Amino acid sequence: MAAIPPAEARPRRPQVNRIARRHGALTDMETAARAAYALRGNDRGRLTVAAPGLYPHMWSWDAAFIAIGLARLSPARALTEMETLLAAQWRNGMVPHIVFSDGDASYEPGPERWACRDLCADAPEGAATSGLMQPPVHGIAIRRILDAALRAGPAERRSAIERIRALWPRLLAWHRYLAEQRDPEHRGLLTIYHGWESGLDNSPRWDAPYAAVVPPASFVPFVRADVHALDALGGGAAQRPTDLDYTRYQWLIEELRQARYDDALARASLSFRVADVLSSAIFAAAAEELATVADELALPGMDELIGHADRFRRGVAGTTDGDGFAADLDLRTGRTLRTETIAGFAPLLSGGLAPAVRRRLVDTLFSPGWCGHPALATALPPSTSPSSAAFDPARYWRGPQWPPMTWLLIWGLERSGEPESAAVLRASALDQLSDGLFAEYYHPFTGEALGARPQSWTAAVALDLVFSA
Ligand code: SER
Repeated sequence: MAAIPPAEARPRRPQVNRIARRHGALTDMETAARAAYALRGNDRGRLTVAAPGLYPHMWSWDAAFIAIGLARLSPARALTEMETLLAAQWRNGMVPHIVFSDGDASYEPGPERWACRDLCADAPEGAATSGLMQPPVHGIAIRRILDAALRAGPAERRSAIERIRALWPRLLAWHRYLAEQRDPEHRGLLTIYHGWESGLDNSPRWDAPYAAVVPPASFVPFVRADVHALDALGGGAAQRPTDLDYTRYQWLIEELRQARYDDALARASLSFRVADVLSSAIFAAAAEELATVADELALPGMDELIGHADRFRRGVAGTTDGDGFAADLDLRTGRTLRTETIAGFAPLLSGGLAPAVRRRLVDTLFSPGWCGHPALATALPPSTSPSSAAFDPARYWRGPQWPPMTWLLIWGLERSGEPESAAVLRASALDQLSDGLFAEYYHPFTGEALGARPQSWTAAVALDLVFSA
């Protein structure tokens, strides 16, 4: 373990009071009002679409962040979001990464391409879904919804508690699926079958494993819809994963179809199998949050949840270097994947680092390689470090800043005893969000809004950050 550097050698952290809002920026209350309006506009009744145009359906981890924001407006509506998602749960416990809403066929790959019900008896009857999962933020959302309901009046509180009780078996089944099917070897790390499962699709984290995903010459990729959905916003292909990325994404769906979405077959056959350290940290944190809910509401499964939290906290901590920076693992080659991406900060969510190591990790977060980079428009962590050769400032997860990632780090810093650092990031985040556009992601150097907008999860975390300040 490296020695702690003397105070004068440590990176300096920005001070909260140095952040001055840009000209024309919204006040926090204006940001919140506009965020609520954006969420209302994306509300389709029982689900909130991730974004109009590019993402006209429900995405699993988006839905969890959306529920965290909605909890500030209406715990009841936030619960509806979780109920819609969990109603589409597979019989094996998996919560699918997309729940397709009716009446919009513009997204590719749509339900016919996934063909989940034709291929797998575990797929639900009542909803059209994808055959993958996404990071399990849901337990964190349930805890936040319960907290909001406990601050509300007695009727709302009673109703929310009843509804959480009704969802409980599904939440436990989801966590059990993750622990059993996605970590059968008890590493304390979740296995994923596709970069989409990580939520960080084209992050440099996956460059090495994707190099081994080689579709046969006979494979004909489908026509991409995503790049055109952004054309109207002036973005398009330069802000999205490349065609080569997409060919690999599409081929992996084909491999999953051939495995009939069976976990044992997928684990044995897929040409992409990695242990995802960020999803694992989110899982540990979500399990811990759900354990507190079990405790307070006298619900079953508390010991099991605590067991998952401990196992995955240790699993994540076990991947770290001497400064607490975490790494993924390529399960096909056995190689550790050390990349300079935001996933390295995973232990700030799951905990388990010695205090001195945690301090070094927080120092890294505010160092010139990350939030302290002199060219940043707003001092927030980019998805990939600007000092990495793989950094690409406008391209999806290869450089842009993503507000839900910022939210997770703020939340993690707060609960791991770093409230000052959390406050610094929160002030910067509110500054970024005061453009009122709620972009999917932001150019770290120009501050330009990128990707889809208004993106529901961005509006949702804006709401939560305003009201938790
Ligand atoms: N994030 C992927 C997309 O861009 C799929 O989940 O569509």
